[in-house]
Amino acid sequence: MTTTITITGAGGQIGYALLFRIAAGDLLGPDEKVRLRLLEIPQGIGAAEGAALELQDGAFGLLEHVEVTDDAATGFDGADLALLVGARPRGPGMERGDLLAANGGIFGPQGAAIAANAAPGVRVTVVGNPANTNALIAAASADGVPAERFTALTRLDENRARAQFAQTLGVPVATVGRLPIWGNHSATQFPDVSHATVAGEPAAEALAAIVGDVPAWLDETFIPRVAKRGAEIIRVRGSSSVASAASATIDHVRDWVRGTEDWTSAGVVSHGEYGVPAGLISSFPVRAVDGEWRVVEGLEIGEDARRRIDASVAELVEERDAVRSLGLI
Ligand code: NAI
Repeated sequence: MTTTITITGAGGQIGYALLFRIAAGDLLGPDEKVRLRLLEIPQGIGAAEGAALELQDGAFGLLEHVEVTDDAATGFDGADLALLVGARPRGPGMERGDLLAANGGIFGPQGAAIAANAAPGVRVTVVGNPANTNALIAAASADGVPAERFTALTRLDENRARAQFAQTLGVPVATVGRLPIWGNHSATQFPDVSHATVAGEPAAEALAAIVGDVPAWLDETFIPRVAKRGAEIIRVRGSSSVASAASATIDHVRDWVRGTEDWTSAGVVSHGEYGVPAGLISSFPVRAVDGEWRVVEGLEIGEDARRRIDASVAELVEERDAVRSLGLI
């Protein structure tokens, strides 16, 4: 079988890191061929064309075809998977409203082009920031495509949280489970350790034994470290997260398509779960079953968690109201 994958912003940094992992089979496994459509704006076409030449030079056995275009209809034609990475970054002096408007001008038309051209079962993952609200705009513009097919990437935040948690406990990261991100992919996100497990067992006691005052550790160390990790990477590396973002994108899409054994996190459309207003694209603990994300229901939410979820969701509501008042949704 062959899967058609559209990557927007494919000439950018995350695009460059993503393309080779996809061509190597990291996304869909060693038996699934891929056809790549690289959608860029005219200024980015050269970089995308260069990446396409390098893909050719990789002689990847799974890669059937690569097409570079700046036309959205061509770019999304027959797409089974759409990775919306290209976005408008915040420029100097740009207010939040300007940023949302500029991205609305990208994600609205792309949502419409997906509805008109993509494969009927298309699955869309928005990486470009502000990811949750860009996904909301794209979903609102994609007549006839269920909102459940539009997701925002919060897996990088979860991966960061699991890595920090594993380091604190001195355990391998692969043994850490059930550490979901709630809310917005922003500084208000809430990485929730209250259900965390190590090797399938609850980790609360082990955590308390190591850090002592858990609420203080969450407030002063863990949550800020995870939520501000992007800024830390920029400070240390001199450039934003790229390979880790691409890797998390691979994790998100692979799990969505192939299913999960346990929980992970994704920005998905709310149906009112946990009091999150219906229609928002919010991060939740999710499982992927039969190619669909399902919110993990019935979790007990403590007082502190409730406050943090509400704060992040309030930010999503503000963003939604802003794009609504701009006529973008
Ligand atoms: P970049 O600036 O290197 O690349 C962005 C590319 O998108 C450029 O080549 C640009 O020409 C292209 N582009 C802009 N508008 C476009 C449009 N309308 N259609 C198609 N392509 C378009 O940026 P980078 O580092 O690759 O990051 C991409 C996005 O991912 C940024 O918005 C960044 O904030 C976001 N990001 C999200 C993360 C997450 O966890 N959700 C993590 C890290 C980054």
